[in-house]
Amino acid sequence: MAEALRIGIAGLGTVGASVARVLRDKAAELTRQCGREIVVTAVSARDRSRDRGVDFGGAKWFDDPVEMAEKADIDVFVELIGGDEGAARACVRAALDAGRHVVTANKALLAKHGVTLAEVAEKKGVLLNYEAAVAGGIPVIKTMREAMAGNSVNRVFGILNGTCNYILTRMEAEGLTFEACLADAQRLGYAEADPTFDIEGNDTAHKLAILTSLAFGTKIAADAIYLEGISNITQADIRAAGELGYRIKLLGVAQRTESGIEQRVHPTMVPTASVIAQVHGVTNAVAIETDILGELLLSGPGAGGNATASAVVGDIADIAKSRPGFQHGPVFGYPAKELKPYKKAQMRSHAGGYFIRLTVHDRIGVFAAIAKRMADNDISLESIVQHANGTEGGVAQKTVILVTHETTEAAVRKAVDGVTKDGHLTDKPQVIRIERAG
Ligand code: HSE
Repeated sequence: MAEALRIGIAGLGTVGASVARVLRDKAAELTRQCGREIVVTAVSARDRSRDRGVDFGGAKWFDDPVEMAEKADIDVFVELIGGDEGAARACVRAALDAGRHVVTANKALLAKHGVTLAEVAEKKGVLLNYEAAVAGGIPVIKTMREAMAGNSVNRVFGILNGTCNYILTRMEAEGLTFEACLADAQRLGYAEADPTFDIEGNDTAHKLAILTSLAFGTKIAADAIYLEGISNITQADIRAAGELGYRIKLLGVAQRTESGIEQRVHPTMVPTASVIAQVHGVTNAVAIETDILGELLLSGPGAGGNATASAVVGDIADIAKSRPGFQHGPVFGYPAKELKPYKKAQMRSHAGGYFIRLTVHDRIGVFAAIAKRMADNDISLESIVQHANGTEGGVAQKTVILVTHETTEAAVRKAVDGVTKDGHLTDKPQVIRIERAG
């Protein structure tokens, strides 16, 4: 049998402890599958004394993950610290420079420095595996990079943040407040250390940036992503969506268009009957549309210790099985130096349907004025719903909900600005994009 593969784990939080536990509990199966043992020989974490429910007895402790990356007797450095700079970036770079394979779950790091790190890994002839960085336990990286070689991707979109999907699902199913659902997601260990990263869409954006590079062979361009989170989604939106046959999901979407590649993260209306609308709770899903395969939808657990550990252990096992000359190829599908520049499509030219919810004075001429603003901007309406809201502060109010046929972002923004200027609104307008989904 080949020599044991020696692992060093940096970061022993929920995911790090789960990885160590899986490597211990599944040692016999992994040895048979990989043809060699996988042994944790080094660990690094800030607090040595914390009980993590795993015995790291045989492993050497390092207070400094960079020192572990450079000096430990390891073949694979597993980075589970998190963050796009600081210790995580320094130790991953040090491990690659030292010629060690790296496995990371760190989407923020890859979204910012992935291409540079991939160049170093490819120069050094080592693997940089990151399956856990996107959609937790779903094997989407391997699927896109390996199983779909030769396919040209037209669109990739998905539910990439378990916390947001958990919040939206419970708000819809139980009528709970946003805050109560977020608190539960944090208690269950789904949310990021700073949950604004989840709810404002940054975590989804990091994952989308990586998928975009894999999908289109372009350099990672996380800064070019249009971003809107879910913190302004209300029960009124969720109920209105339901009435009109839609469900609200936070989607990350990357799409090839005539003017370039769109990358956007925003709350999205998807048809209630679509497959992606059935993805509930912390579950993630990624839909990929290509010229050869057609449409593929992968769904599964996207957050939490075990889901992430499953992907990390899969990446470690790939390294254990790899032999020189039999690796999975470049980190982002094409050699890092050959990734094409990212050509950004402007958000204002995005074409699609829109949901527009307006709270207006209930008086003569208001609806006519709204309809005129839509017509003036060539916006065709697919459906219109209105409800009387009663009286607030002596003012009778109505909610008007419009669903448009395909139009452009620029037209909708201009029409809604016009409606706002007309002075009929009693609250901020709400605009949510509709995504075509099967
Ligand atoms: N906070 C992330 C989520 C964890 O909720 O999906 C996995 O990246």
